[in-house]
Amino acid sequence: MSDRARQFLEDQEILLSNDKLREIRDRLRAAMQAGLARDGQTVRMIPAYVPPCRGDAEREVIALDAGGTNVRAALVRLRPGQEPEVVDVHKAALPGANGDAVDRETFFDRLAELVDQLPWQGRPIGFVFSYPTRILPDRDGILLRWTKEVRASGVEGTRVGEGLADALERRDGTRPTNITVLNDTVAALAAASTRVSGTGGAIGLIVGTGTNMAYFEQAEAITKLGEGADGPAQQAINMESGNFDGVPRTSYDAALDEACGDPGHQAMEKMVSGRYLGEVARRVVRGAVGKGVLSGDVGRAVSEPWSLLAADLSALVETPARLQGVLTAVPEAEVATLREVVGAVVTRSARVVAAGLAAVLDHLGLAAAPVAIVAEGTLFWQMPGYGAIVETTLDTLAPPLGSDPRFLVLHIDDANLVGAAVAAVS
Ligand code: BGC
Repeated sequence: MSDRARQFLEDQEILLSNDKLREIRDRLRAAMQAGLARDGQTVRMIPAYVPPCRGDAEREVIALDAGGTNVRAALVRLRPGQEPEVVDVHKAALPGANGDAVDRETFFDRLAELVDQLPWQGRPIGFVFSYPTRILPDRDGILLRWTKEVRASGVEGTRVGEGLADALERRDGTRPTNITVLNDTVAALAAASTRVSGTGGAIGLIVGTGTNMAYFEQAEAITKLGEGADGPAQQAINMESGNFDGVPRTSYDAALDEACGDPGHQAMEKMVSGRYLGEVARRVVRGAVGKGVLSGDVGRAVSEPWSLLAADLSALVETPARLQGVLTAVPEAEVATLREVVGAVVTRSARVVAAGLAAVLDHLGLAAAPVAIVAEGTLFWQMPGYGAIVETTLDTLAPPLGSDPRFLVLHIDDANLVGAAVAAVS
């Protein structure tokens, strides 16, 4: 890296040392304990009422996956001893995302429209709803608050499974009776049960439009549920780690937070995930222009807020670099320095993700090793080099035990859809 770029990135505290990452890991571990003990903590640690699944049912299930950008519905065939088969996938933009604003009825009507293209009558529905949602023992869930800049009024504080059932009944005259609402991280965990068995623990990790983690917890460790509470001996915990606020914030992060629809929330997510990463990078690039590390031509190319997208960053950090979106206006002579500055923002994201995983690995303890990390999300799998940075950093923060690895990273095709199906019949 050029000296000027390095100096700038150091001065602005974009580069995080391994010692800083260890501090972040330890803070998150403490926040996890607080969330298991009490409601209303920064890291919510939401019980999902999904036990470790056996994944050996023989059923056809409808899976609906409402993510941060898109919504997909599919029929999933589960058969003992065979790979789940995802057939007949229908996809649309998520209502309320991408600058669109909708009301509650429109939101659920659009989801129902997608589900109604499948033979859902008489089949269980696994509904992946990737937002902080309190799960109820009857497997419905109440949305606590929107994240990822989604704007759909009247949904917060209401039951989302019921919203979908009402909308299907409005369309079809029939009401579905078996809907399981689950987080995408929990779906990733459930999908893992179709691949790994044995005593090793598992973590569901999402690094896409948003970021979050889930893992299986012992009932007695979830002390906020009280002694003798109903529920399985082990159940998935949706951490909602995107709201963790223990990562040191730069002035760029603070300014971005102010410009969001939900200032003061999702501090870690806003430094890490795809919905925000382009804008973080854009602000840091503008800072580099201000310090003379990049020229005014670069500053002008990225003058418009939210104009730089995670996909544009991916193209730039690729080898050889490609310029797309607003970056096509960047002069050739500055591409190398721009790449260093943007690369540092991307690297910070991946290293913070590793610190988060290290906290969960420490929490699970050595007996659970090796832990299967089921990773999902466009940033993790499509940003060049991203997964490798997460893995090498995690190796440093949670070193192998002799020749035994502490973790292994898994990719499962259509993890959300498969996991939704498995959880819906577990
Ligand atoms: C949501 C989580 C979700 C994550 C990844 C966050 O914004 O709060 O519930 O798991 O995004 O999709």
